[in-house]
Amino acid sequence: EDEMCAQRIIAAKKNLGKRAVILAHHYQRADVYRHADLTGDSLKLSFLAAQTDADYLVFCGVHFMAEVADILSSPEQVAILPDLAAGCSMADMANLSNVERAWREISEIINPDETITPVTYINSAADLKAFCGEHNGIVCTSSNASKVLQWSFKQREKVLFFPDQHLGRWSGHQLGIPLEEMPVWNFDEPMGGLTPEQITKAKIFLWKGHCSVHQMFQPQHIIRFRNQYPDGIVISHPECNYEVCKASDYVGSTEYIIKTIAAAKSGTRWLVGTELNLVSRITEEFKSQGKIVQFMSPMVCMCSTMARIDPQHLAWTLENLVNGNIVNQIKVPLEEAKQARLALDRMLKIS
Ligand code: 13P
Ligand code: SF4
Repeated sequence: EDEMCAQRIIAAKKNLGKRAVILAHHYQRADVYRHADLTGDSLKLSFLAAQTDADYLVFCGVHFMAEVADILSSPEQVAILPDLAAGCSMADMANLSNVERAWREISEIINPDETITPVTYINSAADLKAFCGEHNGIVCTSSNASKVLQWSFKQREKVLFFPDQHLGRWSGHQLGIPLEEMPVWNFDEPMGGLTPEQITKAKIFLWKGHCSVHQMFQPQHIIRFRNQYPDGIVISHPECNYEVCKASDYVGSTEYIIKTIAAAKSGTRWLVGTELNLVSRITEEFKSQGKIVQFMSPMVCMCSTMARIDPQHLAWTLENLVNGNIVNQIKVPLEEAKQARLALDRMLKIS
């Protein structure tokens, strides 16, 4: 049945020709990834979505990625998410009303519009990117977060960073900001659970959000590996917690992880702290070059929402396009898209 589904995808793709392009994130499952025309991390896929002139951008990723593809492509192009239930649990940890309330509450102590640059991780809904667009803020991805923070501190003295506290903390740490000056804004409590003094002193307000996949990686996994393989090298995604990042030799986005191991010498052994589909793929890929690539956790850490994009949904989506039906279109409202684009364009310009 799997092979039949693959054949349906191949046939529909052939029929659509250049009218459709399939984009896939590195975390996509192997049986979908193999059909992709374009692959990358979130930043690379944003650039690719902005550049393609296909009519249909079929996005094998999660909801916010398809939104970004819609925002960055031209109005006639159509962005499609093969399963609308493919969300990102981290993106759901920040919403516009929580962020607007934080902005209002902070304004009781300092004027945020004069002192704070809002920075949203690309893993967020389009209305949050629009919020950043309106408030002279910016978007970042895991590959440019430190650079984006540097830009932000040139605009204003403080940053409100959402939704991923770990990416915010690690990137702030890289700029030399002490941990005490990066308190977490807990949106479940009045004033984010912070004292007026903490608010005045803060350089970066982090957000109470995290990735449920990357939170599974723990420092003891690294300690165990290093004990067993003293020459082993550890590489992690910055969505991992601070202790894991600190204990790693390299920290970076999915694209960075792949490139770093690709450039390494034969005979090296790697422990990788990121999603399982990616690690399994590169374990196979680099085996022939004599590199050993191991997954960091003894548990299965998969992005289950990204995995909702399966061959069945992809085949169904493409066959509908062949028949002239657009299914599962992702369309960001025009005004919101305009504001979100401001924040995205600021990022693309400095990346
Ligand atoms: P990158 O694509 O920037 O590596 O981020 C990983 C991720 O979690 C995407 O949601
Ligand atoms: Fe979201 Fe985590 Fe999945 Fe990335 S890996 S899409 S951050 S849930």
